[in-house]
Amino acid sequence: MSDNTNQQWGGRFNEPTDAFVARFTASVEFDQRMYLQDIRGSIAHAKMLTKAGVLTEDERDDIIRGLGEIRIEIERGEFEWSVALEDVHMNIEAALTKKIGITGKKLHTGRSRNDQVATDIRLYLRDEVDLILEEITRLQQGLLGVAEREADTIMPGFTHLQTAQPVTFGHHLLAWFEMLSRDYGRFVDCRERTNIMPLGAAALAGTTYPIERDMTCELLGFSAPAENSLDAVSDRDFAIEFCAASSILLMHMTRMSEELVLWTSAQFNFINLPDRFCTGSSIMPQKKNPDVPELVRGKSGRVYGHLMSLLTLMKSQPLAYNKDNQEDKEPLFDAIDTVKGCLRAFADMIPALEPKKESMREAALRGFSTATDLADYLVRKGVAFRDAHEIVGKSVAYGIEQNKDLGEMTLDELAQFSDVITADVFDVLTLEGSVAARDHIGGTAPNQVRAAVARGEKKLAERQA
Ligand code: ARG
Repeated sequence: MSDNTNQQWGGRFNEPTDAFVARFTASVEFDQRMYLQDIRGSIAHAKMLTKAGVLTEDERDDIIRGLGEIRIEIERGEFEWSVALEDVHMNIEAALTKKIGITGKKLHTGRSRNDQVATDIRLYLRDEVDLILEEITRLQQGLLGVAEREADTIMPGFTHLQTAQPVTFGHHLLAWFEMLSRDYGRFVDCRERTNIMPLGAAALAGTTYPIERDMTCELLGFSAPAENSLDAVSDRDFAIEFCAASSILLMHMTRMSEELVLWTSAQFNFINLPDRFCTGSSIMPQKKNPDVPELVRGKSGRVYGHLMSLLTLMKSQPLAYNKDNQEDKEPLFDAIDTVKGCLRAFADMIPALEPKKESMREAALRGFSTATDLADYLVRKGVAFRDAHEIVGKSVAYGIEQNKDLGEMTLDELAQFSDVITADVFDVLTLEGSVAARDHIGGTAPNQVRAAVARGEKKLAERQA
C-alpha cells in the first residue's frame, strides 16, 4: 500500500489515489463542523459494543479518553485535519488510533461511515433546529411586545398596495406573528422526523454483531432507531424538509423585509429603524439604508437554492448510500447559518422599531380608507349594499375632485349623495371608529389586538413548558 493511499480502505488498491481525485472526493473541509456529533456517536457506539461483548471495558475507556482528548485538540485549534483522510470520520478515527494504538482500530466494528455520517448529520441538525426554534420564539416575543404597545396606533391597511381600510399597527405585526407560528410548527415537525437513529444500519444491510440499537438510541437522545437499514443510510429527506421549512420561513421574512423597506422610505415614512441596523452611502451623505431587511430579503435566494440542490441531489438515487450524498452538507449547513443569521438580525431589530404614528395616521386619513365604513353605515340605515357601494363611489369621486377625504366633508356635502346620511355618520368616518368597529376574533380593533397578544403570550409560554 502506497503512502498516498488511504489507510482505512487502501488494502485492495494497487496504486495511490490521484492527488486531484483525493482533494475532489474529500469532504473534511466542510464536514469537520460535525466533529462533536461524530465523537458523541462514537462514544455511544463504543459503550454499546462493550455491552455487546465486542470491546472490553478497558478498551472502551481508552476510546472514550482518546476521543475526549481529540475533542479538546479540535476545540483549541490544535488538531491537524488531513485531506488525505477524506472526511471528519476518518480523520478522527486515525487520530484515535495514533493516540491509543490498536484499540482505535476496533471502534469501527459493526459500523460503517454510511450509518455514521447519517447519524452525525441528524444529530447536528437536531441541535441546530433547537436553536432555530428558540430564535423564532424570541422574534415572536419581540413582535408581541411591539404589537401590544401599538395596539391603538392607526395606519392604512393595503390591498394591491393601495390604501384599503385603516388597521392598527399592532394588528399588522400580529399577522407576522401568525406566519412565524406556522413556521415554528414546521420546524418542530422536521425535528421529529430528523430525530431517528440510522446507527446500526452499518453500510446498508445491518451488521452481524449482536448490537443493541435501543441502547445507542437512548444514549444519543434519538426517539427511535430507524426501521430499515437501506433507508437509514440513504435518504436525506430530513435535510430537504429542513430546507423546505427554511424556505417558507425566509419567504415570510422577505414579506416582512419588503414592508420594512417600504415603510422606512421617505414616501411612506411609517417607521424609523435605529441607526445601528442601517448603513450609509459613500457618495450620498443624506442616505440611511435599511440594509438588514434588504439583505434578509436577498438571503432567501440562497435558501431556496439549497432546497433545489438537495431535491436534485436526492432525485433518482437508487438504494442505498451513494457518494452523491456527500453533497448534502454544504447546502444544509449554509441554510442553517443563513436562517440563524436572519432570525437573529430580526429578533434584535424588531423590538427597536420606532413607528412614526403621526405619519401613519395621516396616510390613513388620505386615500378614503373609511369608504367601506360609510357603505356599512348606509346598509345599517336600510340601503342595499350594492346601492350603498354606488353612493360611496360617487362621494369618493367628489372627494377626489374637491381634494377632501370623506371625514373632511360637511354633512351637506355628504347628504347630497343620500338622504339617509345624518350627523351620526361622522362616528364611522373617523379612523378610531373604523378600527374599533372590527371587533371580533381576528379583527383589527385595539381590544382584539390586546386579546390576541395575550393568546400569543400564552402560546409562547406553553412552548417553554
Ligand atoms: N464523507 C462521506 C459523506 O459525507 C461519508 C460516507 C462515505 N461512505 C463511503 N462509503 N464512501 O457522505
